[in-house]
Amino acid sequence: MQIQSLTQERAFDGDVPTPDEMRRAMGRFASGVTVVTGLDDDGPVGFACQSFASVSLEPPLVLFCADHRGRAWPRIRRAGRFTVNVLGAEQTDLCGRFGSSRGLKFDGLDWELSRWGTPTLPGVLMRVHAEVHDVHVAGDHDIVVGRVTELECPAEDRPMVFYRGAFGLDG
Ligand SMILES: Cc1cc2nc3c(=O)[nH]c(=O)nc-3n(C[C@H](O)[C@H](O)[C@H](O)COP(=O)(O)O)c2cc1C
Repeated sequence: MQIQSLTQERAFDGDVPTPDEMRRAMGRFASGVTVVTGLDDDGPVGFACQSFASVSLEPPLVLFCADHRGRAWPRIRRAGRFTVNVLGAEQTDLCGRFGSSRGLKFDGLDWELSRWGTPTLPGVLMRVHAEVHDVHVAGDHDIVVGRVTELECPAEDRPMVFYRGAFGLDG
């Protein structure tokens, strides 16, 4: 696993967007929602994640961005493998569980262990099983590149869409 830094000299000297301005403007970019899960000796972990993307077809690579303040990501990183569970439009309960550090997460949830040794969530549109391939430090997040080991497409429902801080396209 390589660790690289993407920090660069800043050429522009004026006011840069504040975190709040970034959050509000970037919210205009509609995305799907996933839950990234992993497992270590202390049990299952996971967090809601919209910064998921496909990177390369050959070799098969995906990425997600993980906040340095998150509790789940350091444990997933140490475990070295993860599953990206892509949520359907009706799975707002799962998004609520995994979208906050105070969420219930796996309490009372009907999850299963994949062949890859990671937690899988029920009823999702797609699962990407992957190993941690590269981690790039980028500001207050890590860009995590995963090498895909297996894909599953268990359901055909409509996707969850997150837009301007809310579900659906009416933001
Ligand atoms: C719709 C949605 C999308 C999110 N996307 C991301 C993301 O891309 N990266 C990230 O680090 N956190 C993201 N979060 C926030 C984390 O899910 C949240 O901070 C997480 O529950 C932290 O839990 P942990 O401290 O147990 O890791 C998102 C939250 C929501 C509700």
